[in-house]
Amino acid sequence: MRETAPGERRVALVPETVGKLAAAGFDVVVEAGAGAAASFPDELYVEAGAQVGSPWDADAVVAVRRPDEALLRDGQLLIAYLDPLGDREGVERLAARGVIAFAMESIPRITRAQPMDALSSQATVGGYKAALLAAEQLPRFFPMLMTAAGTVPPAKVLVIGAGVAGLQALATARRLGAVVTGFDVRPATREQIQSLGANWLDLGVGGAEAEGGYARELTPEEMQAQQQALEERIGEFDVVITTAAVPGRAAPRIIPASAVSAMRPGSVIVDLAAETGGNCELTVPGEIVEREGVTLVGLTNLPSTMPYHASMLYSRNVQALLLHLAPGGELNLNWSDEITAGACVAGKQEVRG
Ligand code: NAI
Repeated sequence: MRETAPGERRVALVPETVGKLAAAGFDVVVEAGAGAAASFPDELYVEAGAQVGSPWDADAVVAVRRPDEALLRDGQLLIAYLDPLGDREGVERLAARGVIAFAMESIPRITRAQPMDALSSQATVGGYKAALLAAEQLPRFFPMLMTAAGTVPPAKVLVIGAGVAGLQALATARRLGAVVTGFDVRPATREQIQSLGANWLDLGVGGAEAEGGYARELTPEEMQAQQQALEERIGEFDVVITTAAVPGRAAPRIIPASAVSAMRPGSVIVDLAAETGGNCELTVPGEIVEREGVTLVGLTNLPSTMPYHASMLYSRNVQALLLHLAPGGELNLNWSDEITAGACVAGKQEVRG
């Protein structure tokens, strides 16, 4: 389908995937102009074996964002980002409509499901773009330069939250020549950060690993200790990129206003958690603002700003899930399977019955 959410430029299926699905036995219908904003014109879909037409009669609808449930019908399969932890009502409306809905966010983070893991694929895009935005906003060079006019020292970049997006931001900032440092509350990240050639920042808070490899929410005391430790060190950095998140919770407030004022004028904070409230107290979601002489980048949905590759990766995730749910194009929902049961957020009962 063609995405209708404001600013959404991605598309759930790209021509490459359509070709693979067609070869696997699927009939694919693509809404006219679905891939246009991601630089995939209709002709490429047709060449790959799709029909251009109305997608709403299909057995399965795949999308990036949740479509209007009025367009969907009883027994229809839906695959999209559905925000099941944040948008309970939206999911309930799908259930009331009889839609069998699979949320890309709910696919278990297990090895077998990695090809379907859109959280990871899109976080890779977001982390990369965050480093580029920081470089663009910073009134300094990222790399060290030795010129006839003298030497320019490299920028110092701190990345807080070293999950998929954070590690990508570290790697990208380093490739651009910055001196990079990372921090996360999960102890396992120390080695991952260092393996990228980045320094590890010790903020005295650690061991906050919960089930499934995710971080747990810090206690108020731990959070305060983290904020204080960060405030003491933050002035050393020209750029701070924050990606800290705890699934299903508002983003942890790691950078209070007082820490922003501890930064040098011209410094940049890119807050990848802006969409869930921000890791920085002064972030304005959706905007780039200046506070205390510091540029705060709160732009949301960064993957959509790189729609070509973001769509390509997302589409491969969708393809892997589709082939899992309907091998050879024939729907075969096995509710005892961890991936199928885990990703389904509405409509399990109807099929069981
Ligand atoms: P996320 O987007 O949920 O969180 C981003 C990062 O923020 C995490 O590394 C988290 O530890 C960190 N964080 C949370 N609170 C923090 C705080 N107060 N201060 C500093 N950092 C804080 O995480 P993401 O990137 O979606 O994945 C997290 C982890 O899940 C991965 O690094 C990995 O261990 C695991 N995973 C496993 C996969 C699998 O298939 N086995 C696939 C992808 C991820």
